[in-house]
Amino acid sequence: MSHLGMALRRLCALSVALLWGCLASTSHRKAVAPPQDLQITDPGLLGSLDVEWKPPPNVQTVSDCTVRYKFEYRNTGDRDWKVIFTRKLKFRVGFDLSRTAEVKVQTLLEGQCTNDMEVQSDWIYATFQVPLQGKLESEVQNFHCIYHDWEYLKCTWQPGLLAPRGVHYGLYYWYEGLDRAAQCDDYIQDHGINIGCMLQNLSQAEYKDLSICVNGSAAATLLRPLYVTLRLHNLAKPSPPKHLVVSMSASEELHVAWSPPGGETPPQCLEYEVQLTEDARGTKAAWASVSTQMETALTISRANQSRISCVRVRGRTNIFCADQGFWSEWTQECFSGMEPKVTSISYTASTQPVCDQALIAATGICGGPALEGGACFSYTLNLVRHSHSYSFASPVRLAGKPQNINASALAPFPAAQGQL
Ligand SMILES: *[C@@H]1O[C@H](CO)[C@@H](O)[C@H](O)[C@H]1NC(C)=O
Ligand SMILES: *[C@@H]1O[C@H](CO)[C@@H](O)[C@H](O)[C@H]1NC(C)=O
Ligand SMILES: *[C@@H]1O[C@H](CO)[C@@H](O)[C@H](O)[C@H]1NC(C)=O
Ligand SMILES: *[C@@H]1O[C@H](CO)[C@@H](O)[C@H](O)[C@H]1NC(C)=O
Repeated sequence: MSHLGMALRRLCALSVALLWGCLASTSHRKAVAPPQDLQITDPGLLGSLDVEWKPPPNVQTVSDCTVRYKFEYRNTGDRDWKVIFTRKLKFRVGFDLSRTAEVKVQTLLEGQCTNDMEVQSDWIYATFQVPLQGKLESEVQNFHCIYHDWEYLKCTWQPGLLAPRGVHYGLYYWYEGLDRAAQCDDYIQDHGINIGCMLQNLSQAEYKDLSICVNGSAAATLLRPLYVTLRLHNLAKPSPPKHLVVSMSASEELHVAWSPPGGETPPQCLEYEVQLTEDARGTKAAWASVSTQMETALTISRANQSRISCVRVRGRTNIFCADQGFWSEWTQECFSGMEPKVTSISYTASTQPVCDQALIAATGICGGPALEGGACFSYTLNLVRHSHSYSFASPVRLAGKPQNINASALAPFPAAQGQL
């Protein structure tokens, strides 16, 4: 190296401005080369592709700088690139395999060698497309999936428009954790043609990308495969809420309570919609939505007690667990507010013991053998018509466990209130 060169180097080290001049004069804008050998390979996982590259040449000689990469990828037709900053040289990322996969990567150099300024290389690009066999019209149509009760996934489709006779469709799936793509083993058939699939035991696939391919074969014709990527939690449909109980208080309020549906649906992942109709018997009900909430109970004031009323409730996944979901079917209870037909009586002990000596004295049955530990309990009297339950606003208070209550003594309703 010449003396002039060494002197110039020292000068460059002295000031930012001179360093920039130095870089500009020696490499003219680009101080670092792009990565090399960018490659995309398909591991056969129905959506995930492996992307790898090699470092730029001579990058090992840069000891006082860090080398990173800016890796971007998308499907052709997407507006935005997904961006990853990394020091790794290999990534597995998800694509829609029915479209071309595009990737690009550039080198980022930063540290003393660049005076702590980030220097970017040019981009290198690569694309990938699975062989698109068959005509587009031969692809299956109306592909839908629902994740029932977080227990099983049911997917259905219709044969493609150009599906030949004797076509055989297959559904394959993969999610992170499976060694390789697996085939459906429980098909739904119509006239011997597979038109759907049931997949069980997918809890390991929740909150991940689930890649699905529906392809087909027919004697001499090539069929276009369908590729989709699902997220199970956004496809969940719970069963209808259970144990809907509507009770009415003397203050003309309706108390509505229900239980979360069964199955594997996480109860904390649900929200409910409650609707009410106060329609005359026989005409088409006009439902009014009264609440959408996460709680499993609600109090509604009634506009008109004299009419037949129905309450219905349905559930779906709330925003804390998913971006979207399907509503369950409704659970419905109808009742006549004025004339509940009493067919049985049941009692519910309240959780808090109540001692009301005046009342106990009045009833004269405190201290019987059923009294437990001297405590007095409050009972809510429920008049049960079929599965419908009506309870009084003021509980009838008894000491101990009520026994031998005569149903006919309660008629006419609601005069029985407080009579016992
Ligand atoms: C459910 O899937 C797991 C892997 O995710 C597997 O180990 C287990 O055997 C499966 N259970 C059934 C009943 O298929
Ligand atoms: C359908 O896709 C699976 C999984 O990629 C593959 O193993 C199978 O050979 C394909 N079948 C047809 C008919 O293309
Ligand atoms: C309640 O119903 C009766 C007859 O069924 C009707 O005459 C009355 O207007 C209703 N009241 C309200 C507030 O809807
Ligand atoms: C209930 O009371 C009615 C009259 O109040 C009586 O005729 C009937 O025998 C009673 N039934 C029972 C089970 O005690």
